[in-house]
Amino acid sequence: MLLVLPQLLDDEEVAQARAILATAPWADGRASAGPQAAQVKNNEQLPADCEAARSVGALVLRALDRSSRFLAAALPRKVFPPRINRYSGGANFYGRHVDSAVRFTEGGVRVRTDISCTVFLSDPAQYDAGELAIHEAGSTRQVKLPAGHAVLYSGTHVHEVTPVTRGTRLAAFFWIESMVRGDSQRRLLHELDLAITGLRERHGESDTTVALAGTYHNLLRMWAET
Ligand code: NI
Repeated sequence: MLLVLPQLLDDEEVAQARAILATAPWADGRASAGPQAAQVKNNEQLPADCEAARSVGALVLRALDRSSRFLAAALPRKVFPPRINRYSGGANFYGRHVDSAVRFTEGGVRVRTDISCTVFLSDPAQYDAGELAIHEAGSTRQVKLPAGHAVLYSGTHVHEVTPVTRGTRLAAFFWIESMVRGDSQRRLLHELDLAITGLRERHGESDTTVALAGTYHNLLRMWAET
């Protein structure tokens, strides 16, 4: 799975997030990494409980709530409170790693990391390199998006952030536990949902679209954990 959510945050929200992060209490990113990841992690992160992380996190969560694309693609059951990181200067990369399968929030809630999300907060012109590189079965996809855009990708993939060689890369990142655990079932539901929406837009509601919507919900009922 790899899905771009264009303009998840609007320009005003991006500016708001950047203003908050300009004076935020950055800390060593290794604090939140497991033993393997800590060996390859060299970035900065905001403490989860600081005011800046909470404000930017709340802004991202509000944007997710109003994104029908996000809801249709991720079918979220739990969303990990967004964390914020910064790559610049001598703390500028995060080598190949896999995210832990289950993460604990500050409040002790367990979230299975079915889907990973990165929300870009810096414009590509503000830094060189710093791509999110996602490795899958011998191929690599490089992702670097305009500020406010987000990418969703399967939590199962080895991934990395390549060294930022100039400027600063700010991003929010977090995980989603989906109601539908399996990637292939979730993709099938998303494709069916898009096809039904397309049919509706072209021909309006009909007995056929109602029947297909019924099939969608019956599949979701079969696979969803709530
Ligand atoms: Ni990661």
